Amino acid sequence: MSRIAYVNGRYLPQADAAVHIEDRGYQFADGVYEVVAVQAGRLVDEVLHLARLDRSLAELRIAAPMSRPALAIVLREVIRRNRVCDGIVYLQATRGVAPRDHPFPADTRPSLVVTARRVRVANPKALDEGIGVITIPDIRWARCDIKSIALLPNVLGKQQAREAGAYEAWQVDRDGMVTEGTSTNAWIVTAAGELVTRQASSAILNGCTRVALLDIAKRTGLNFTERPFSVIEAKAAREAFLTSTTSPVLPIVRIDEAVIGDGRPGPLGRKLRALYSVHSDEQAARPDIA
Ligand code: PDD
Repeated sequence: MSRIAYVNGRYLPQADAAVHIEDRGYQFADGVYEVVAVQAGRLVDEVLHLARLDRSLAELRIAAPMSRPALAIVLREVIRRNRVCDGIVYLQATRGVAPRDHPFPADTRPSLVVTARRVRVANPKALDEGIGVITIPDIRWARCDIKSIALLPNVLGKQQAREAGAYEAWQVDRDGMVTEGTSTNAWIVTAAGELVTRQASSAILNGCTRVALLDIAKRTGLNFTERPFSVIEAKAAREAFLTSTTSPVLPIVRIDEAVIGDGRPGPLGRKLRALYSVHSDEQAARPDIA
């Protein structure tokens, strides 16, 4: 079955789908994106993702490519046409097509591309045994809160991690504090047992998984603190894990050369993973809007 992409008003076999060479996404990375998990054919935390999309677009002063209800239909149609039961839907909106020139073009319609694919959201071996991360300097820009398609530092960091035999790279600011992973948020359970993740600011992307998990923790009565933590504190932590749409609550057992806790996934991370899985099951079971 050939995959189907939505591109600016048309559903096309992916092999025939194309964007203009003067799309500002291609020329300037002048656009934003979202990755939403699909579980049992339903979108997980759609409201959070679409709110973040609106925010990213507004911060870059890119007009919404279509209304929210229309977008909700397109997302579902791409999921349906690709017969994705469990996987992801990806959407990318750019400022549109115009002759290459830095200022915003006048009267350009934003471009929208939506694709979907099946993926196994969690790798069982990584969940059972935990993964390693390396630490690298954060060389990104000052607006990491915008989910921009300009991901070159993230790509370089992830590749550096993979070449070092690690799953992810934790980026570190000039004060020695962890900001986040290249495509994930960073969490630790300190030596004193405090659950910590960095507060939302322009230094990190406020992950939808992060937001959902903090809400779950609050409702469950689990204490947490939103504050920066240092690499030194992380290496001495009892537990560490990362979160993202594609890797919700993935345990970390090694940071650079340091073994975390007893080298096995810890109990609080396991508990949060179970709670998150209840949450995503609930999302998948609720009545759909379309
Ligand atoms: N990455 N931080 C960064 C820099 C990210 O790119 C992502 C998401 C996250 C986690 O956000 P969320 O929980 O909303 O997925 C944090 C997506 C999955 C990606 O680029 O593929």
